[in-house]
Amino acid sequence: MGRKFFVGGNWKCNGTIEEVKKIVTILNEAEVPSEDVVEVVVSPPFIFLSVVKNLLRSDFHVAAQNCWVRKGGAFTGEVSAEMLINLGIPWVILGHSERRQLLNESNEFVGDKVAYALSQGLKVIACVGETLEQRESGSTLDVVAAQTKAIADKVSNWDNIVLAYEPVWAIGTGKVATPAQAQEVHLELRKWIHNNVGAEVAASIRIIYGGSVNGGNSKELATQPDVDGFLVGGASLKPEFIDIIKSAT
Ligand code: G3P
Repeated sequence: MGRKFFVGGNWKCNGTIEEVKKIVTILNEAEVPSEDVVEVVVSPPFIFLSVVKNLLRSDFHVAAQNCWVRKGGAFTGEVSAEMLINLGIPWVILGHSERRQLLNESNEFVGDKVAYALSQGLKVIACVGETLEQRESGSTLDVVAAQTKAIADKVSNWDNIVLAYEPVWAIGTGKVATPAQAQEVHLELRKWIHNNVGAEVAASIRIIYGGSVNGGNSKELATQPDVDGFLVGGASLKPEFIDIIKSAT
C-alpha cells in the first residue's frame, strides 16, 4: 500500500502563549520516526499559528482548524485560505464535527470549503463521522458516504486530501472506537472512494481515525490495514502525543 502514516494534533480552542510554547518545546525535543515514516501536523488556534510555525521543528507541519469558503473580503471574523498560504501554513482541518454541529456547517458547505481550500494550494484534513444516534440506528455508512460524496461532488484532485473518520460519539468522551469498528468504517470509506472516485485514489488516500485516541490505544488501532493514522484532540496537548506518533513504527 505504501501510504505514509499521518498523525494530526487538533489543539482545538485551547492554550495560552506560555502553554503553546511549552508544547512546542516538548515536540521539538521528541525522538520520533523520520518524516518518511510518519507525517506530523499540529493544529493550534488561529491566534497561535505564527508562533507555532516559527518555533516548531522543520519535520513537523502546521494546520489551521478552519478557513473561509471563498476569497476573503467582507466576512468579519473569518480567515481566508489565501491568508493561510500567505502565512506559510500548508494544512487546514475542514468539516470537523464540532463545526458541523455547533455552527451548522452542512455537507455541501464543507464540500465547497474543501474545494476552495485546495484551489488556493492548501492541503486538507477533511473530517467525516456519525453521531451516536446515527450509529445506533444503523446509518453510519450512509452518513459518512454522504459526507464524503459532498466533497467528491466538488473536488476532482484528491492528492492533497487526508480523510479523517471521527465518530462523534468518540470525540472527547474516552469511548474510543474499537479497532474493528474503525477498520470497518475505514474500509467502507475506501470502497466508496474506489467505486465513486477511482481505484488509484482509493489505494493512495490516507484515512485516519479520530476520537479519544491516546498513548494506550493508538498502537492497536494502528495495526488495522485501513487505519493510516490519527487525528488527535486532547492527547495532542500532552506528552503522550509523542507515543501516538511512535505508533507509526
Ligand atoms: O479532531 C480530533 C478530535 O475531534 C478528537 O478529539 O479529544 O477525542 O482526541 P479527542
